[in-house]
Amino acid sequence: MKISIGCDHIVTEIKDHFVKYLEDKGHEVIDNGTYDKERTHYPIYGKKTADKVVSGEADLGIAICGTGVGISVSANKVKGARAALVGDVETARYAKENLNANILAMGGRIVGVGLMENIIDVFLETEYKKTEENERMIEKINALGGNKDQINNEHFFDEFLEKWDRGEYHD
Ligand code: RB5
Repeated sequence: MKISIGCDHIVTEIKDHFVKYLEDKGHEVIDNGTYDKERTHYPIYGKKTADKVVSGEADLGIAICGTGVGISVSANKVKGARAALVGDVETARYAKENLNANILAMGGRIVGVGLMENIIDVFLETEYKKTEENERMIEKINALGGNKDQINNEHFFDEFLEKWDRGEYHD
């Protein structure tokens, strides 16, 4: 797999660890930086990581900052990005299986490296379940970006609310 990875200065050594970790597993890695500990800004690397994914240069992205919050929020501003901020294995599985998340974001100051390895493994191994429901929801989420019709539109998700009313959801 081809993986785009990026981080801010707070977690450079953790990103470097994962570049090697992924390469050792046979993946090709695009390392978007940052490359040292000099203070920088996480949105730069959230964007770079996401750009490679949405352009098709990479299959998936991994974005790491201190908490994972800043870099995931930034990556999600790139149209076509679905970045999931993950701190446990089950969430990684869910994000890929149901949302077809294409970027895994993590907080390197929050989650231990061993758990991050497990999270990455599960995220890469899990297959997206291409159901009609998942496809429709992703399409709808994608339509939020840059779509002026959805701003202050209380009815944007009505079709899903109606499914609740019909008892079609069970979780
Ligand atoms: C450092 O800039 C730190 O604030 C950042 O890595 C991150 O934790 C933000 O979400």
